[in-house]
Amino acid sequence: MEQKDTVRKILITGATGYIGRRLKTRLLGRSDLSLRLLVRNRNKISPATRDRVEIIEGDTFSQQTLDRALEGVHTAFYLIHSMGAKKDFEELDRRSAENFRDACIRAGVRRIIYLGGLGIRETASRHLRSRIETGEILSAVSGRIQTIWFRAGIIIGSGSASFEIICSLVHKLPVMITPRWVATRTQPIAVDDVLSYLEAAIDLSHQDNLQVDIGAPAMSFKEMMLQAARAMGLRRWLIQVPVLTPRISSFWLILFTTVPLRVAAALVEGLKSETVVQNDNAKRYFPDIYPMAYEKAVRTALVELEQHQVISRWCDSSADIACDITAHDDPGGSVLRDVRILPLGNISQAAVYKSACRIGGENGWFTYNIFWRLRGLIDKLVGGYGLSRGRRMDHELRLGDALDFWKVVDLKENKRLLLHAQMKLPGKAWLEFDIQPDQLVQTAHFIPSGIWGRIYWYSVLPIHNLVFTNLARQILDTARTIEQSG
Ligand SMILES: NC(=O)c1ccc[n+]([C@@H]2O[C@H](COP(=O)([O-])OP(=O)(O)OC[C@H]3O[C@@H](n4cnc5c(N)ncnc54)[C@H](OP(=O)(O)O)[C@@H]3O)[C@@H](O)[C@H]2O)c1
Repeated sequence: MEQKDTVRKILITGATGYIGRRLKTRLLGRSDLSLRLLVRNRNKISPATRDRVEIIEGDTFSQQTLDRALEGVHTAFYLIHSMGAKKDFEELDRRSAENFRDACIRAGVRRIIYLGGLGIRETASRHLRSRIETGEILSAVSGRIQTIWFRAGIIIGSGSASFEIICSLVHKLPVMITPRWVATRTQPIAVDDVLSYLEAAIDLSHQDNLQVDIGAPAMSFKEMMLQAARAMGLRRWLIQVPVLTPRISSFWLILFTTVPLRVAAALVEGLKSETVVQNDNAKRYFPDIYPMAYEKAVRTALVELEQHQVISRWCDSSADIACDITAHDDPGGSVLRDVRILPLGNISQAAVYKSACRIGGENGWFTYNIFWRLRGLIDKLVGGYGLSRGRRMDHELRLGDALDFWKVVDLKENKRLLLHAQMKLPGKAWLEFDIQPDQLVQTAHFIPSGIWGRIYWYSVLPIHNLVFTNLARQILDTARTIEQSG
């Protein structure tokens, strides 16, 4: 192990993503490390954490930002990707990795730690190939910067896409007609074990580049579903048929699980060929880490869900090249609005805020849930998120949280909740709850794109009339109950 007598500066990129957010939480507990985060929007980091870390705002496409972010850094985590970008994500990933590596060399960083995907180039999906290429770029100048490149397959943890897919399928379908790819072998790993490897890599004394494949014992997706059913106390039957194409499988997944087509297709594509470890470096260099068995990983994730301790979710990060929040916290330019104003009477702003922050997910939308569900179904059918993402926790909202087909883009305690619509729409939409000392102003904002946007808005007006009037009323009613119950 390396000397740990001085405080080392660690940079985490992707600190608002699934892995980065959890790694940040874990490393905050170490007094021998000082954390710096490179994020695209500092507000996505909670105020409590902001006080304990240094934050640099920007992205890996700006050299200036990278130079600032990497100054004085001992070890830098590269936990980002551009897979959500609609444009050429491979080229973006390439540029991002080159920029990062070169900036690390300029800054004299000692080590890059990268987490990519498990698998080999010959059979890799487009996404996995890009992850492999990223690792190769980061490792390409070995004389000047060292890279420890971890490769993981399916990651099991509360909020991970794979875990949510498995849980939804197992929960909803007692009997499953499954495609051939469910028999493909892979090596899942618990998210806590991934974090253990990433953390241990900071202290590893090793000078050269290293590729470390990590995972629990190999198993098929079918075995994963059966073991997950056992962990959930359910009995399930899987009947394998040779006729379901990957495309049909992806559509099947989006109907029954929380993920959109993009994520489902990536998972199915990844499972078409075997993804198993190719080296024994995990055991050799990290002998103290024993990846937990898959079923234990599922049980651990289920406990986190039950205890409302979901630190991160697959939909926390932006599904685009830029952060999906930065440009959306001001619907000021909207041209069509549905405004409902209700007096608070003797209800406090705090109770109204609490009540507004409870909407969505399992809590539902108070009344006319049938209309919300119908809108969600239509959205799913045209490739959107629908309502199935729900919410990360039923009693807490954080900036960047997905909320059914909305995203939380502004939160001001006791004053404002602003949701940006991520549903498929002919325009841009927001739902705003502006809680003033004496009234609640609830506004649905819409910027139509062309004539179809206007036709859409006016055709749903009668439904808006019902839904939004009642929503505002119910928020106040619930606030009254919250206040009365103390
Ligand atoms: N999650 C898994 O199941 C899994 C499995 C195997 C391997 N991995 C690997 O683990 C790594 C991290 O994945 P993840 O699932 O944690 O990703 P994620 O949840 O999608 O998060 C991506 C993060 O990168 C940030 N980001 C994207 N482009 C950026 C840029 N150009 N500059 C600065 N920040 C940028 C995002 O910021 P915003 O919040 O602003 O969007 C977000 O914080 C990836 O390399 C992935 O291949 C993940």
